[in-house]
Amino acid sequence: MSEAVRQPRLDVDLYTQAIFRDPYPELERIRAAGPVVWNGLAQGWMLTSDALIRRTLTNFDRFTLSGAPPQRLFGAEAFIVIDDKPQHDRLRNVWAPAFQRQAVARLQPAIEKIVDDMLAPVEERLRAGETVDVFKHFCRDIPAYVIAAMLGLPDSARPDIVRWSDLMGAAVISPPSADGSMTPAWIAGEQAKQELGDFLVDQMNHRRRHRSEDLISQMVHSEPAQEMSDDAIMKNCRQLLFAGNETTAKWMGHIVAVLHDHPDARRAVAADPALLPDANEEVMRFEPVVHRSHRRVRGGPVTIEGVDIPDGDLIILLMGAGNRDPQRYERPQEFDIRRTPMGNLGFGFGMHSCLGISLARLEATIAIRRLLARLPDYRVAGEIGYEGLGLRGPSPLPVAL
Ligand code: HEM
Repeated sequence: MSEAVRQPRLDVDLYTQAIFRDPYPELERIRAAGPVVWNGLAQGWMLTSDALIRRTLTNFDRFTLSGAPPQRLFGAEAFIVIDDKPQHDRLRNVWAPAFQRQAVARLQPAIEKIVDDMLAPVEERLRAGETVDVFKHFCRDIPAYVIAAMLGLPDSARPDIVRWSDLMGAAVISPPSADGSMTPAWIAGEQAKQELGDFLVDQMNHRRRHRSEDLISQMVHSEPAQEMSDDAIMKNCRQLLFAGNETTAKWMGHIVAVLHDHPDARRAVAADPALLPDANEEVMRFEPVVHRSHRRVRGGPVTIEGVDIPDGDLIILLMGAGNRDPQRYERPQEFDIRRTPMGNLGFGFGMHSCLGISLARLEATIAIRRLLARLPDYRVAGEIGYEGLGLRGPSPLPVAL
C-alpha cells in the first residue's frame, strides 16, 4: 500500500518539547481524527481508544512486539519481546513467583529502609531552605536499589546500575530515525547496555558456582535457562533490571507533581494514607509513564474499525490517550482520587502486561507515604522538565518547603 493510500492521516511529530511537556491537547487532536490514524512522520498507525488498544494487546497472532522499537535496543531474545507463547510464558514463569504480591510484601522492610535512607538527606536540605530536585535525589534511585537487591547484586554496584539504567532509558526515548541514523543518546545507551551485560555475565558465572536465593540464581538454574545461550540469559536479566527502574521512579515523580497540583487530594491522602494506593493508580491513569507502546501487524493485512492496514505496518498504541478515553471514563481529563479504579493501561495489558506491578505499587506507596508524613507541605519550586513519551516523567522536579 502506498503512503498516499494510508488514510485517515494526521502527521504528528511525537518528539517535540511541546508534546513532551503536555501531550494531552495533541492526543485529543489525534482522537478527533479517528480511532485509527496514519502518522506519516512516525510511519505508524496511531490508536487512541482504550478498547482498541486492549484488543490489539491481546491479539498476539496478529500484532507482535517483534520489530517494534524496544526490541531494537534489547534484542529479540529478551523475554519482554518474545511473542512465541510457550517460550514467553516459560521464561515469565521463572520470575513470576518472585513478583507475586505476597512475595513482594516480604520486601517491605528493605524498601522502607532504602526510602528512609534516600529521604533523610533530602529532608535535611529542604529544611535548610534549599530547593532539591526530588526526582534525582529521591525517586530515581529507589527502584534501582530495590531490584538490585532482588537480583542479589552488591551494594557497591548501585551507582553503576543507576547510570546504566539512565543511559538505556535515554536511548529508548531517542531511537534511531527512520533512515537508521543514530542519536548520541542511542549510542550511549548501546555502550551502557554492553557494560551492564558484561557485569551481569560475571554475576551469572558466580551464581553458577555459588547458588543462592536471588533472582539471578533462579534464572541461571531454571529449566528454560538450560536451553538458552549465556547471551540470552544475560539479556533477560538485563531487561528485568531495566524495566522497573526508570518506570517506577518516573511514576513516583508524577505522583509528587500531580498531588502538588491537587492540594485537596494531597491533604486527603496525607490525612488517610489508606487512600494512597487508589490515588497512585489515578495518577497512573492521568499521567502514565509509558505513553506509548508498539506492535507490528503480522500474518497478513488487518482491518481495524474499517481501516485497512497492510501486513508489517507499525501500530502505535497511545496509552495516555486510552487512559483519558471518554468512552471508558467519565470526566476523563479530571484527576479524581475517589474514582472507582477500573484498571488503566499504564502497566500494559495482555501477555506482556507488567510483571513488576505489585513491586512498583508497593515501592510507590511506601515512598509517597513516607514523603507525605515527613514533608506534607512540599511545593514545586521551579519548572518541571519532561522528556519523551515512551517513558515520560518529571525531571528535574524542583521542590522546596
Ligand atoms: C511504574 C512502574 C512501571 C510501569 C509504568 C511499567 C509499565 C509496563 C508496561 C506498560 C509493560 C508492557 C509493555 C508492552 O506491552 O509493550 C510492562 C511490562 C513489563 N514490566 Fe513493567 N512497569 C513498571 C514497573 C516494573 C517493575 C518494577 C518491573 C520489575 C522489576 C517491571 C518488569 C516488567 C517486565 C518484565 C515486563 C514484560 C513482561 C512480559 O513481556 O511478559 N516493570 N511494564
